[in-house]
Amino acid sequence: MENVIENIKELKTKKSAIILVHNYQRPEIQDIADYIGDSLGLSKKASELTCKLIIFCGVKFMAESAKILSPQKKVILPNKQAGCQMADMVTVDELKQLKSKHPDAAVVCYVNTNADVKAECDVCCTSANAVKVVQNIEAKKIIFVPDKNLANYVQRFTDKEIIPYNGYCYVHEKITPEDVKQARQIHKEAVIIVHPECRKEVIDLVVAERKSCSGGTDEVLSTDGMIRYAKSSNAKKIIVGTEEGILYRLKKENPDKLFYTLGPARMCKNMKLTTLSDVYFALLEEQYEIEIDEQIKDRAKRALDKMLDYT
Ligand code: 13P
Ligand code: SF4
Repeated sequence: MENVIENIKELKTKKSAIILVHNYQRPEIQDIADYIGDSLGLSKKASELTCKLIIFCGVKFMAESAKILSPQKKVILPNKQAGCQMADMVTVDELKQLKSKHPDAAVVCYVNTNADVKAECDVCCTSANAVKVVQNIEAKKIIFVPDKNLANYVQRFTDKEIIPYNGYCYVHEKITPEDVKQARQIHKEAVIIVHPECRKEVIDLVVAERKSCSGGTDEVLSTDGMIRYAKSSNAKKIIVGTEEGILYRLKKENPDKLFYTLGPARMCKNMKLTTLSDVYFALLEEQYEIEIDEQIKDRAKRALDKMLDYT
């Protein structure tokens, strides 16, 4: 392993490449990151960087967003099987059908969508800015794809009519209200933080019975929101309702605090596909390059740029 890491570092310097890593990646991949973050943070970072080569350790829609925002850069996804099951739940045809049923609605699409779907929407959002995006958009009626749970979460903050699609994240869907109740019984002095991709019943419980303990309050947060929360709050015990990979970073950056998964550890299998050896070959052979049809790229960029303007 030492050798692979050395080889990665050497190649990265030689090619002036930057490695971007999502918070759910394997620990050894997090350890070689130049930047680590959530979908929003990494998209922004990609557009600010001056390098020509980006190795994106995450899933395909994230690497696509980086490419769309930085079309002049070469963006590499080290493991081409790393997709997102939620992103694949909505197709362009399905979205077009929904649009024809609600011709007066604007379309907001979660960044967890494929590039061709982004090209069909008015504005994108991430879990960190979905509420702000919906509040900023002029339309009173909004089609929201693909995550029904994020759509329901956003609905709590607006009078606008949100028309949710039926997509969901199979990882967050596994977290149950029972997990919340049990965690509260077992760790009486801990706070609970959950991702907005969790089921409505889970978020209902967290929000309705929002508990404060010495130093913290239960919250609904994006993955970077969780990282910031852990650093800034005085809570010493934090129960985390999202993909288990984030616990590695939380523990590493907050050695004085205790972190637990909400229920059993839930793993996104695609987030765990990328290995050190994949990263080495990604740097060596510059594969697998993200390529997007020019027209799709331009239209998807409009939706992503609008999101960045709003936030
Ligand atoms: P974040 O943008 O909060 O990192 O979420 C991405 C994701 O895929 C959650 O499942
Ligand atoms: Fe997609 Fe869920 Fe995996 Fe995130 S955790 S990449 S939403 S399948």
